[in-house]
Amino acid sequence: MDIQENVSLRHLNTFGIDARAQYYTEIHSSAELQETLRHWKGSTPFVLGGGSNILFTGDVGRLVIRNRIKGREAVRRQAGKAWVAAGGGENWHEFVLWCLDEGLGGIENLSLIPGTVGAAPIQNIGAYGVELRDVFHSLEAIELSTGMEHAFGREACQFGYRDSVFKGPFRGHYCITRVVFELTTGPHQIHSSYGAIKEILAARGITDPTIRDISEAVIAIRSSKLPNPVQIGNAGSFFKNPEIPQQQFDGLLERFPDIVHYPAGEGLVKVPAGWLIEQCGWKGQRFGDAGCYEKQALVLVNYGQASGKDILQLAQKIVDSVDEKFGVRLMPEVNVV
Ligand code: EPU
Repeated sequence: MDIQENVSLRHLNTFGIDARAQYYTEIHSSAELQETLRHWKGSTPFVLGGGSNILFTGDVGRLVIRNRIKGREAVRRQAGKAWVAAGGGENWHEFVLWCLDEGLGGIENLSLIPGTVGAAPIQNIGAYGVELRDVFHSLEAIELSTGMEHAFGREACQFGYRDSVFKGPFRGHYCITRVVFELTTGPHQIHSSYGAIKEILAARGITDPTIRDISEAVIAIRSSKLPNPVQIGNAGSFFKNPEIPQQQFDGLLERFPDIVHYPAGEGLVKVPAGWLIEQCGWKGQRFGDAGCYEKQALVLVNYGQASGKDILQLAQKIVDSVDEKFGVRLMPEVNVV
């Protein structure tokens, strides 16, 4: 067990926040994690994946464990389907590309999402008409307080919009070591109904898209709208898209006839937070090194030296102004630590 002290997490979070871990270690297998937990006498450790959905607002006075558990394999193939297992520390996008190379479909719409395989179920990652829960089979996780390994099926994970049991009652309780996906070997179900995907396919003259065509279209959309964290610190969407009751929405529609919206089921309407934020004039604004991204108002960015508190302060101002103008309270999508 190799535990370092006072380690900078700057390069381990995509916001590029210069927070420090009081203690830090990396684990490469479930056994190594269990061994670490057995010897660790301090408070419950904090598990870090790709650091792509997190905002550190101060130093972490705990043991930070970086999950580096690798491995990916098709564990079973049957009747057009494949069950694929991947280690929690695998890079998500590399896993997507590997699946494409293997001819496996189901997660191509989730191309280029930063982060790790183990973090993907925590917030039920989603983009362009597909969510992780659509292809999820099961996962294995180690309970940090006991070192016990537990298996979770789809029901047990309680997936919701950018949500799961690991963001709710089990927040901070587990390290996800392995995830099993149910993918297709063919024929694949193609999800191309999202407007921007349709446009790209049409522009490229593709009428019968393959899973690789979809992946390439998604990569093109994301690269054009979302800042590359290697160049500008960010954690993707900072807020969730609010889902508001139909009645409240009707009132808004009267006052703002061009409000963008989508049905969200059960008398709810989803309004893109990016639209609300842009209407309040935040898009492209910058305060020191903290800013609201010029091409996608839902993304807050660190231009270099912003602290977590600077970003949080900007987020708070945005929440207040959206609330004042629209009577809608935005909730963070990013984990604020
Ligand atoms: N919009 C604006 N101004 C903006 C941004 C968006 O008016 O600055 C409006 C536009 O009308 C646009 C609509 O909002 O058509 C939707 O925008 P976009 O397609 O960019 O998607 P989003 O709702 O802002 C969500 C996810 C993204 C995901 C995209 C595509 C959340 C919180 N975010 O963003 O996920 O990639 O849809 O499916 O649900 C993430 O979670 O980190 C993330 C990037």
